[in-house]
Amino acid sequence: MKKLDYFFRPKSIAIVGASRNPKKIGHVMLRNLIEGKFQGRVYPINPKTDRMFDLPCYPSILKVPGRIDLAVISVPAPMVPRVLDECGRKRVPAVIIISGGFAEVGNTELEHDCLKIIKKYKMRCIGPNCIGIFDPYSEVDTFFLPRYKLERPKEGSIAFISQSGALGSVVLDWMAMKGYKISKFISYGNAVDVDEADLTEYLAQDPATRVICCYFEGLKQGRKFFNTLKRVSRKKPVIILKGGTTQEGVHAVSSHTGSLAGSKQVHSAAFDQAGAIQAQSLEELFDFARVLASQPIPRGNRVQIITDGGGFGVLTTDWVIENRLTLAHMNKKILTTLKRTFPPHVVLKNPLDLTGDADVERYRLAIDAAVQDPNIDMIAVVTLFQIPTLTADITDVVSAASDRSDKPLIVIAAGGRFTEVLKKTLEDSGVPTFSYPERAAQSLRALYEFGQERKRK
Ligand code: COA
Repeated sequence: MKKLDYFFRPKSIAIVGASRNPKKIGHVMLRNLIEGKFQGRVYPINPKTDRMFDLPCYPSILKVPGRIDLAVISVPAPMVPRVLDECGRKRVPAVIIISGGFAEVGNTELEHDCLKIIKKYKMRCIGPNCIGIFDPYSEVDTFFLPRYKLERPKEGSIAFISQSGALGSVVLDWMAMKGYKISKFISYGNAVDVDEADLTEYLAQDPATRVICCYFEGLKQGRKFFNTLKRVSRKKPVIILKGGTTQEGVHAVSSHTGSLAGSKQVHSAAFDQAGAIQAQSLEELFDFARVLASQPIPRGNRVQIITDGGGFGVLTTDWVIENRLTLAHMNKKILTTLKRTFPPHVVLKNPLDLTGDADVERYRLAIDAAVQDPNIDMIAVVTLFQIPTLTADITDVVSAASDRSDKPLIVIAAGGRFTEVLKKTLEDSGVPTFSYPERAAQSLRALYEFGQERKRK
């Protein structure tokens, strides 16, 4: 087993600082692990009690009878070096320090002391000042955020590395609500030992991960990360959102994770050179990730738009062109067949407007034609679910076509509660959905450009 595997697939986890107080961080972490589906052993550590949640509680990690693969530390910062030393003596291979109060508040010496102990015992450490890991496959969950307040996403193929714990965890809650899925989430905080480069390298080898998303503010070892990025982006898409790009943002970064934000231009040029995909916002990060994780690489940049609403067709056209993609011209034979089948008011152009009385069958025929047509590289299906003729089984038709298609297929559907329910059904079956044409077109561009970049390598 590789050292970093102990973070994601431990057979046993100790929570050091498992408080008796239900409002304290250590208590919630223990509760989450017990209430989740983690299959391994769980050891609460607290010198003030000998039982927690019906489990034996130990005064120190050294008193635990069995082996410990992962220790999660939630005691005040000054106590952390002693606990780390005990972990080292117990031969714990992986440690996560949740506690804050280190470099981010100017306490670099304490952080340095921790690093010395970590190195002495050859442990690997994530943190300090982080929320650690959520892995939906192994159900390792070191969050101190109660499950009823923060939903966890289901198993998928998007990995998310975040320097910020709060940002990352809130995003997970939102992803779970939307039905977006993940392979792993890691908040790594001050990165005293394990940093974004180590995690990116690890995720590149992870069979469950197809796309790696990173949010960070500053890099401690820029060159190491760029070298890793160059290697990994040949294999899997790496999407980066960098925080701290304005003068004021740079100041905020130093008191958040104690790192240096650096220049926006320098970072951006280096990421480009290394083949990473850059996102400008959190929404864009996950738009790109969903499309890159679920859709095949297109052969070219010709997009066919299929719609039941003219206005959305026009806006989608504009955004397709704005994003340096082109409109496909349907094959003549296929068009002739469609013309024979469809009523005369259907507009057989691009956008192909099935109009306001489109039903599921009309969509099925149009999408199937686009899937087969060699003149089309990508398919953007606009479904305004509100029209009376369109029934909810449109989702079955779209997801079946998407399964059969060797081209990217995405759905644009704007609306309220009814629309959101159907979009979630589509997301669950692996079809990326968007509320707005601009975000859909940007994501198709990211997918196309990733394919072009890969061809060049
Ligand atoms: N081993 C195990 N447990 C120990 C211990 C030791 N050596 N020494 C003390 N404890 C126990 C305490 O007795 C207490 O349990 P109790 O409540 O049952 O008495 C528990 O550990 C926690 O210690 P406490 O002193 O009460 O600390 P706390 O819970 O108030 O705060 C932190 C600890 C880590 C949460 C806090 O210092 C901190 O860092 N907060 C910020 C966390 C954060 O935001 N992280 C970054 C997120 S992005």
